[in-house]
Amino acid sequence: MDKDLKIFKGHVIFTKTQDKFEVIEDGYIVVLNGKIKDVCKVLPKEFCNNEIVDYTNKLIIPSFIDLHLHGPQFENVGLGMDKELLPWLNTYTFPEEAKFKDIDYAKKVYSNLIKSLWENGTTRCVIFGTIHRKATEILMELFEKNGFGAYVGKVNMDRNSPEILIESTEESLSETEIFLEKYKENKRVKPIITPRFVPSCTPDLMLGLSSLAKKYSVPVQSHLSENNGEIEWVKNLHVESKNYSSVYDEHGLFGGQIKTVMAHCVHNDEDEIKMLKDKGVFVAHCPTSNLNVYSGIAPIKKYMSLGIDVGIGSDISGGHTLSILECIVSAIQSSKMYFKYVDSKYGMLSLSEAFYLATKGGGKFFGNVGSFEEGYDFDALVVDDSSIYSVLNKNLEQRLEKFIYSGNTSCIIKRFAYGKLLEVIL
Ligand code: GUN
Ligand code: FE
Repeated sequence: MDKDLKIFKGHVIFTKTQDKFEVIEDGYIVVLNGKIKDVCKVLPKEFCNNEIVDYTNKLIIPSFIDLHLHGPQFENVGLGMDKELLPWLNTYTFPEEAKFKDIDYAKKVYSNLIKSLWENGTTRCVIFGTIHRKATEILMELFEKNGFGAYVGKVNMDRNSPEILIESTEESLSETEIFLEKYKENKRVKPIITPRFVPSCTPDLMLGLSSLAKKYSVPVQSHLSENNGEIEWVKNLHVESKNYSSVYDEHGLFGGQIKTVMAHCVHNDEDEIKMLKDKGVFVAHCPTSNLNVYSGIAPIKKYMSLGIDVGIGSDISGGHTLSILECIVSAIQSSKMYFKYVDSKYGMLSLSEAFYLATKGGGKFFGNVGSFEEGYDFDALVVDDSSIYSVLNKNLEQRLEKFIYSGNTSCIIKRFAYGKLLEVIL
């Protein structure tokens, strides 16, 4: 491979650890073949003759990772915020997802989704499609063509679902296998096994999906303990199981050998929290959604303190925005409420912790992503915050804070994924 060396100059900010920002004023990032080679204050001699991409006085930060969202719910963003989870699914979500039987509709919505992800500075997603394989393939191909990284799931639903959005067990498994087979060599946009949640999947389907996950060495994503009505329902469907997490675990869909991410995890009991940790299951924290669909507040600081892997998910359209900036703010606000009114034991999320979740925390699901340490993929945003900072806000951490709380997509002037400039071509 030819050496592809790029050097970027600017104010570099990232989180190697959760507790603090690494800040390099007027620093350099050396990127070799798409990966970080060096981050430094003074450029080593060996690179002094190379061309420098100059972003002086701009912030260079890791780009955002959306660890949980529903592509087909993009049209519903900002709509239907008057119900909690189960009636919300039946009233708004399932009818919208049923439309993805129509390939042309899927193309339109998924193209708009990709544009919006790009605008918001999200370069990697772990995303649900629908039960429709063909529409989900369109989503895969759009991500691939436009340079994003993603895990994309064809959703599985073979019980307790409306006529318009249900499959037979056999069809669900065979369509999933075709999907896995088709993309098994993909390097950047990869398939992920996606049982919607326990109420939508029979035991036979879950067992079959676990076999496929093992056969093709692919990860799993689903929902866990989001809402009390949902949890009660799972209890009634699986009286034999100790708890919700055990249902997934008993059907081979809960971490261990199989990389797994569970969205929400709002109401897990102590046994389940121990299982998350022991089985290495990632938690996708979806604070905007948890507030909108009034599911509750997830004990995220507790999970982090226990060493559970956590990232942030927009969970559109339970979440009302693809903006990970807004999700970061929402995560901090939610943790304050939890700290003050529920349990003060673990403290509340700091800015660096919430930023870490949105970058390195979720990035870990992809490997070395979301930080500017040596060997990490160069996935980055260049932020021109001149429209929002005043001369009084010169400190770089304050500039980042202001961007997070009051910035918008127009401050993001460049996006990079895998070391390449990301430009939506569709
Ligand atoms: N649980 C099962 N399906 C969904 C969904 O589409 N959104 C959310 N927020 N929770 C779910
Ligand atoms: Fe979700």
